[in-house]
Amino acid sequence: MKLICANFKMNLLKNDIINYLNTINEKIPKENVVFFPNELYISYFKDKNYLVGSQNIAHLEHGSLTGETSVLELKEFGISYTIIGHSERREFFNDNKYISKKVELALKNNIKIVLCVGETFEEYNKNQTFEVIKKELNEALSNNINYLNNTNLIIAYEPIWAIGTSKIPTNECIENTISFIKDYLKTEFNLDIKVLYGGSVNNQNIATLEMIKNIDGYLVGGASLDANNFLTLIDNIKN
Ligand code: 13P
Repeated sequence: MKLICANFKMNLLKNDIINYLNTINEKIPKENVVFFPNELYISYFKDKNYLVGSQNIAHLEHGSLTGETSVLELKEFGISYTIIGHSERREFFNDNKYISKKVELALKNNIKIVLCVGETFEEYNKNQTFEVIKKELNEALSNNINYLNNTNLIIAYEPIWAIGTSKIPTNECIENTISFIKDYLKTEFNLDIKVLYGGSVNNQNIATLEMIKNIDGYLVGGASLDANNFLTLIDNIKN
């Protein structure tokens, strides 16, 4: 069954969330769709028994980290997933430095990780995609190999240049990159891991993306923000 993750980022206010939940009104499957709203609204989704995750966790379990939220605090509100290493966090919050520690804390607390990896447009043009991803995987996983298994880690391949731009790589390119990630995780870490694609997934391109054979699901940003739009997207995804 494909995994579909809805990353709301810093969008939708309280009333929008209430309306969203009324619109989806139990029409969204509860076993393979995960919502990542702003953490203030995690409980709204949890109360309706949807799968829910956080967009980030702090790199410490508790302590003096003003403005951050610990995995322990998020767990109390019912998250079962967390995104780690989103390019926006890598760019604006210096997350590269903390990814290994965040992965460790999520794994120790039985929270499934959606680990984002992907290249800039410049790196893509220089054919450095695999090199960049390899480095990101090593940085996140090398110190955590003892805790990893085939189900507590999911990789999201998100080319940075495809996020919010309506530009996406060709199917061939996505398929090759997903194969590379799966092969690398198998040979280096002995893991069989699901790989999602993220970056401008929408109702216009989903039929094309669905032709990719090795894709295990999607990490959706903008196209998940409107409930009806997201319902249509889910209907267009074959399991
Ligand atoms: P968009 O779907 O808006 O391009 O965002 C992708 C993303 O960053 C999901 O995490």
